[in-house]
Amino acid sequence: MSKITIHGKEFVPYLSEGQIKERVRAMGVEINSNYDGKNPLFVGVLNGCFRFAAELMNHIGINSEINFVKLNSYRGTESSGKISTQIGLNSDVEGRHLIILEDIVDTGNTIEHLMEGLRAENPASIKVATLLYKPEAYHGDIKLDYVGFEIPNLFVVGYGLDYDGLGRNLNDIYQIVLPKTHPEI
Ligand code: IMP
Repeated sequence: MSKITIHGKEFVPYLSEGQIKERVRAMGVEINSNYDGKNPLFVGVLNGCFRFAAELMNHIGINSEINFVKLNSYRGTESSGKISTQIGLNSDVEGRHLIILEDIVDTGNTIEHLMEGLRAENPASIKVATLLYKPEAYHGDIKLDYVGFEIPNLFVVGYGLDYDGLGRNLNDIYQIVLPKTHPEI
């Protein structure tokens, strides 16, 4: 892994594909043991979750279903704060055990918006599984039940996550390099 440039910004390697796969496998093992016999419905949040969801499913051995929603909040490397639903859930969630699959929880706006909508449909339970979590940016009070990696409040790309459309194809996760604010002496 070496430095990459996307839309003129530099990124350095942060989490390798091997580290990600190992952690996602462990999350799958935990979910299998917590949801055996409950036929959970995974709710993947597009676009960013597609690789995390696919990798997690490699390790889910219990009866379960998966569906996807699409929300929109990000512009470039900043969260816009405004969420809109582009594609809704087409499954009946009443009485179901839901597990939301997120690529990353940053400010928490997306997850809060989604939770609010899902709660109104009376599921039996809702839990959150996120590959990445930025505790310094998060200002919500929703419990994150399964967290892959806690990361610093810096923009990342790869493994499904994009910077203005690019980078989702990268197998590793890269972290942005911030410009130096003080000249070196
Ligand atoms: P939140 O609503 O601020 O929690 O942001 C959630 C969504 O913003 C995620 O599902 C991602 O699509 C996007 N996002 C947040 N942080 C990053 C990042 O560091 N890189 C790429 N996308 C991000």
